Amino acid sequence: MTQGFVTVSYIGAAILFIMSLGGLSNQETAGRGNTYGIIGMTIALVATIASGHVTTYGTLAGGMLVGGIIGAIVAARVAMTAMPELVAILHSFVGLAAVLIGFANYLGLDPVLEFAGEHGAAERSIHEVEIYLGILIGAITWTGSIIAFGKLKGSISGKPWLLPGRHLLNASLGLLTLWLLFQFVGAPWPGQAGSLLGSGFLPLAVMTAVALFFGVHMVMAIGGADMPVVISMLNSYSGWAAAATGFMLANDLLIVTGALVGSSGAILSYIMCRAMNRRFFAVIMGGFGTESTGTSAAAPGGEVIAASAEETAEMLRAARSVIIVPGYGMAVAQAQHSVSEITRLLRDRKVNVRFGIHPVAGRMPGHMNVLLAEAKVPYDIVLEMDEINEDFSDTDVVLVIGANDIVNPAAQEDPGSPIAGMPVLEVWKAKTVVVSKRSMATGYAGVDNPLFYKDNTRMLFGDAKNSVDAVLKALG
Ligand code: TAP
Repeated sequence: MTQGFVTVSYIGAAILFIMSLGGLSNQETAGRGNTYGIIGMTIALVATIASGHVTTYGTLAGGMLVGGIIGAIVAARVAMTAMPELVAILHSFVGLAAVLIGFANYLGLDPVLEFAGEHGAAERSIHEVEIYLGILIGAITWTGSIIAFGKLKGSISGKPWLLPGRHLLNASLGLLTLWLLFQFVGAPWPGQAGSLLGSGFLPLAVMTAVALFFGVHMVMAIGGADMPVVISMLNSYSGWAAAATGFMLANDLLIVTGALVGSSGAILSYIMCRAMNRRFFAVIMGGFGTESTGTSAAAPGGEVIAASAEETAEMLRAARSVIIVPGYGMAVAQAQHSVSEITRLLRDRKVNVRFGIHPVAGRMPGHMNVLLAEAKVPYDIVLEMDEINEDFSDTDVVLVIGANDIVNPAAQEDPGSPIAGMPVLEVWKAKTVVVSKRSMATGYAGVDNPLFYKDNTRMLFGDAKNSVDAVLKALG
């Protein structure tokens, strides 16, 4: 394939990626967005493989086959509730790839052939900075994403891990990284020095170790409730790592694609921060939500009133307006189809049913929207928190299905709570709130919820799918 044809293909793929992102921003066009992305990636792969740069087709075919089979099996098997972990571990692979490509590129530099031209010295320095940055961002993304994977999976505690003097430690690591950059740029390449240790390899390897530790330290220090921001931030980092690799390999499409992922991840982080009323920098500095002084976080207060499925059905039958608030528990119980069925039944009976979606409900951005779309709930009754929060006071019944933190009034009432300041769905303002969950256990942030003890709250205990099915039966 000629270079011109490769360039045209890359431009086409880049446009398709932009159209894909545009499509993914809305539920109704998300399917189309995915299709654009798949076509764009296919074009990108074919153009790259057919370009003159690729010569080792056997190795490439083997790698694609093994990687493709593993990817297909993992994606087919993954439970909807485990998607965030999968995303986190995939980000770690992007980071790892950036590190490996960086080292391979550096070790393969040929002192005779490379940068021999008129501006050779400047080009050489620029290329070395590209290698350094690619490995730096890649290493942070790699270990940071592995820790995020562990935290989301529950194998690493969600509690922030705070080393004494951690800000000073981070600043020192930052300065060390800068110093190592100056040691690396201009140092002889392995091929020139004759040995690895006498070349720039040593500062590069030390920086990699520092960056790997920094990735662990950064994500370990972030409290459970702030994990949504961390996921989108690592998404952004994986994009910048890919873009840096693109500069290193002089691959325009990788630069564009990496920049698209990097900037869209950064915008998502900003949206997440706004949704949780956090400052981005404060999240990154870590330790948020550790110094809880409030009462609601410490001990449950008062008695709860339980309700049966029949009583819940009775309340729904008498209601004229209902808002359903789904949370992580709905995903765990896979109750979305039964919830959709209840919605259909109530709407047939002319009840005004709507859904209130919190931006960080579940465990990944858009988690609830995906489940409700899968269960064929009409998009026009699925509303964002800002669109519906004022309507709770005019609502007869709110059905909270497996949600906890996102409906916790402590966020507004208790300044010492770990989730203080996070905007929440003000469900307690409705006439009656029915909460479907299995026990009095806390949610992801580990905070007790005063909503459960309010006079107008009824607890519908049990697995969400079983409870909703029982309500459906009683309604029918
Ligand atoms: P949570 O606060 O985690 O609460 C979920 C509740 O569901 C739990 O209290 C649990 O209580 C209940 N539950 C679990 N399995 C259930 C089942 N089978 N049937 C019925 N109930 C079940 O969820 P949320 O309200 O959706 O809030 C999300 C939280 O996750 C926030 O703290 C957010 O910061 C965090 N987070 C979000 C994201 C993104 S991007 N969305 C990413 C990482 C973390 P029982 O055990 O008593 O049943």
